[in-house]
Order: sequence, then C-alpha cells, then structure tokens
Amino acid sequence: MKTGAKEIIEKLHPFEIKAISALKDGMALDELSEKSGLKEIEAMRALQWLENKGLVKIKTEEKNVIRIESNGRTYLRDGLPEKKILGAIKSSPLSFDKIKKELKLGNEEFNVCIGLLKSKMAVNIKEGTLEITAQGANLIGKETLEEKFLRRLSKTEVQANDLSPEERFAYGILKKRKDVLREDNIKIRSAELTELGRDIKKQKPETADLVERLTQDMIKRGSWKGKSFRRYDIKINVPQINGGKRHFVNQTIQSIKRIWLDMGFKEMAGPMLDTSFWNFDALFTAQDHPVRELQDTFYIKNPAKGRLPNKEIVQAVKEMHEGGGGIGSSGWGYKWDPEEAKKNVLRTHTTILSAKTLAKLKEEDLPAKFFSVAKCFRNEALDWKHLFELYQVEGIVVDPDANFRNLLGYLKAFFNKLGFERVRIQPAYFPYTEPSAEVHVFHPVKKQWIELAGSGIFRPEVVVPLLGKDVPVLAWGMGLERSISEFFSISDIRQLYSNDLKQLREIKIWR
Ligand code: PHE
Repeated sequence: MKTGAKEIIEKLHPFEIKAISALKDGMALDELSEKSGLKEIEAMRALQWLENKGLVKIKTEEKNVIRIESNGRTYLRDGLPEKKILGAIKSSPLSFDKIKKELKLGNEEFNVCIGLLKSKMAVNIKEGTLEITAQGANLIGKETLEEKFLRRLSKTEVQANDLSPEERFAYGILKKRKDVLREDNIKIRSAELTELGRDIKKQKPETADLVERLTQDMIKRGSWKGKSFRRYDIKINVPQINGGKRHFVNQTIQSIKRIWLDMGFKEMAGPMLDTSFWNFDALFTAQDHPVRELQDTFYIKNPAKGRLPNKEIVQAVKEMHEGGGGIGSSGWGYKWDPEEAKKNVLRTHTTILSAKTLAKLKEEDLPAKFFSVAKCFRNEALDWKHLFELYQVEGIVVDPDANFRNLLGYLKAFFNKLGFERVRIQPAYFPYTEPSAEVHVFHPVKKQWIELAGSGIFRPEVVVPLLGKDVPVLAWGMGLERSISEFFSISDIRQLYSNDLKQLREIKIWR
C-alpha cells in the first residue's frame, strides 16, 4: 500500500468509509444514502469531506420538475369544469347563475372556464345565457390536451424542458389555475470517484479497526496499545470563525501607549474642547497667526468663549506676547487681546496637553516625561489623505539636562518600535519650538522618506510663563493615522474608519 493512501485511509470518518464503499460512479445522493445505510444528510456530509480529500467529485444538476396537485387530481377524476359546463348546456342554453349553482362553481373558476371556452369558440353568450356552438359540441366526447397532460402527470413527474408542444400548450393553460400543478426547481447531487478515490476504494477501507477517540479508560487499562487511531485531518476546510476584537485603530493606539509607558512616560489627558488660550496663546502662537483662522480651526458657537486660567499665568503669557516678558525676547510687539484668547476651539493639536501639563508641573516633579494619544480636529476637507478628526501622538520631556540629541534619541527609539528602522530630521518651523525639526522615516516598501512628526525644544517664551523658569522641554507631535496606514496597506486614510465588516475581520493584527 502507498504510504499516502494509508494516511488518507486513517483520516476517513466512518461516514466517509461507508460512502466510498457504496459509491458507484454517477450515483445520485438518494441512492447512495440507500446503499450505504447513511441518512441523506450524512451521505452528503461524507461526500463533501471526501471531496475535500480529493477522493470524489460532487456534481449538482438542476431540474425543473412539474407535478400534479390536489385540484389537478380532482379534475382528472371528475372532469375539467369547462367540460362539465359544456355537458350542462349540451341540449339548451342556461343562465350563468344556474350553471354555477348546478356545477358548484365559484365565480373565479367559472370566469376562467368561460374565458377558456370562448377562446376555443365552444360557447356563445346570449342575453345572460350560455349557448353551446357546434365546435363546443364536438369537444364533449374528446379528451382535451389539458386532460391528456394531467393524465401523464398523474403517473409520473415530468421535467419542464421535456414537454411536447401540445403539453407545453396545456401546461400554459393549467398553470394559471389554482392547485392544479406545481413546478419545482430541484437540485440533484451525484458523485464520481476520482482516480485517487478509486485507488482508496480498492483498498477496502474498514471502519471497525480505527479507534475514534482516546478515552481516560483506555489510558488506565492500557487498552490503546496496538490499536490504530483515526488521524486528525488538519487540512480540512472548516468554517471561518470571526472572534470579537478591538477595532484595529484602537488596538494600535493601545500598543502605541504601551511603547511610551515602557519608556517611562506618563499619560496626559484633557478635554477636546478648550480655549484658544491653551491651544494657541500659551504656545506663543501670535493672535494674528494664520492657523487661528476659521478655515483651519473649528471655533465653537455656543459657548463661544471659555474662562481664562489664573491671573499670574494669563499675565505672564500676555507680557510674553506683548514685549518678551523680560527674558531677552522681543515678543510679538502687539497689544494682546484676552477676548481672542477666550474663544473656544476644538483642540487643533495635542500640544495643548503639553502646555497644560507644563503649567501644572512643580520644581520637585522634574525631570518628567509625558505622552498622549488623543483626538484633535482641523477644519480640513475630507479626502484620501486628510481627516478633520484625527489622532495625534504627542510627547514632552521636561528635564534640566535634556538636549537636542536626546530628542532625536527618543524619536528614533519610538519609530524603531513602530517598525521604521531609519529616522532622519530636517529643519522646520513651529511658533513654539527652537530649534524645530521635522522627523522623516524611511519607508521600506515604498523606498522613500516620509514626513511623520514635528518636534523641537520649547522656546523660553512658552516655558517661562507656564513653568516659572526656563528648563529644556523636548517636544514632539505626529498624526497617528499617517504613521499606521502603511502598515495596514491602507492608501486612502478614510478606510481606517470605514467600518467595513469584511475589512475589520480580515485586517492583519498590529505588530
Ligand atoms: N503640534 C505640531 C503639529 O500639530 C507638532 C509639534 C509638536 C511640533 C510639538 C513641535 C513640537 O503638527
């Protein structure tokens, strides 16, 4: 015996053994069920398993079958009602009512009959009565095409594509009447052995000597010794099970949070809606800076304004904007307007959280590291690379000993953990950092550098009013969606949130 064959036989389920032993080429399912002693559903299952193993080929043939129904049988026994009508008016015309009463015909059936008889020119309608024609009289003794067809159907079911022209005509007429006949679409399954199947069948596989299940008892008694067991078929097709899981973006957010936590960072949190003071002013963004315009920022209508924080901070920020706060900066040289700072916005970046965190920090908290992964909002037209609601990954390191090289070190470490091996920077500008740098990573598949983050060291104009003194604060922020869509092979950023069930089920798991 070929080893392959032996292995296959050891995988066969008892149903499969019964089925393959009974199967002859082209055998239909019902016959197989009868010959194998399996129920039809068991035989079907066995055939499917055998087909998976390449031992049989299942064929499905569709047929439309016409069968006689209860009224059809009655008509056949008692005569068609239109025939009976002809009999009733054979010698003299009768009124409609009388015919209906005598023959116990309902209105609907009577009308069908009249229509039919008229089309055969068998009757005339005269002053409310029905009169037979010579043609009609002729029909009385003869078997009609309908009767002939019904007679055939009473003996056997007939395939719809197997009708003679006369039968097709009769079928057309009878089909319009209730419960006379029925056409069903049925599927007939049959199976053929493949070459491999024929091989296996020749070996006469037997059910008896394969043990299906190893029981506790068998182990205790040692009665498993010398027995052959049925093999597991690990290649069999099984239904796909879609387990519950987090949305892949949420899952990614979790693991990004994990990266920062592992590097000793604490998470910052805050409201999505806040004042311009925190979102812009505290970050030394001039009150006439273009990012503060309506086409970039979502302002809130109601309440349009919020409360400014304690006077000292407001005063310090105001002085910094107006004249540089006495730290050797010249500030913006304008009159700072507290009303502008009170305007409520949907936060446009999570750097707002860094500003608020700095304002809360005390001398003894230093050095300190914070991160956030949180939503922010931009007045942006939605397209394949822009969202108006997006996540940012943000971070600060507040440390008297920190320097620009440390900043690069943190970003490199983070992006490496995100899967990007090569990281480089390029000079940039932000109102709140000096020096400022854009962070680029090398995309290994696209083979090009892509810009992912903004970063820098917060200017003293930001740090001094919030923290009370100048301490190096390394800072960075980046869009989450851009950093992760490549990994999921998503080229249109909107697909991250399309919530297409198929995508959610099949998308790969974040590293
Ligand atoms: N807030 C900047 C942005 O939204 C990113 C940034 C954060 C830049 C911190 C420098 C420092 O793009």
